[in-house]
Amino acid sequence: MELTINGTSHSVDLPDDMPLLWALRDGLNITSVKYGCGIAQCGACTVHIGGEAVRSCQVALADVWGEITTIEGLGTPDALHAIQAAWIDHQVAQCGYCQSGQIMQAADLLSRNPEPTDDDIDAAMSGNLCRCGTYPRIRTAVHAAASAMREV
Ligand code: FES
Ligand code: FES
Repeated sequence: MELTINGTSHSVDLPDDMPLLWALRDGLNITSVKYGCGIAQCGACTVHIGGEAVRSCQVALADVWGEITTIEGLGTPDALHAIQAAWIDHQVAQCGYCQSGQIMQAADLLSRNPEPTDDDIDAAMSGNLCRCGTYPRIRTAVHAAASAMREV
């Protein structure tokens, strides 16, 4: 099976019914994608397929419908994505475990809504859990990234 991940094609010899999360982590050693719950309850495994945030623990390899983006592919080789830059500026991460999923979910939100309200952010991010309680900084950083993206 061929998977396109962050612009690069990969041939993988893995079972069709293997969840994408396992294929990324154990098959391709992309360990930025985290295993939290395995049952679509935490968001730690969030990646993009075809530009849309999905829970990779819930997508079988046979059902992957487009190009996969992980946090490594979110920016460009020369520049971080505005969301990544805002996360650094606002020192969002605490332990960091949930944060690649948080960032991928936030990127999906801003691709659809360039000026989200607090309620929009809370609604979009509600499925991404953070044991460290970084929610206030996530909200601040999403607003900052939205503002930076509108100025480009
Ligand atoms: S590991 Fe996929 S949602 Fe928790
Ligand atoms: S930063 Fe620790 S779980 Fe979110």
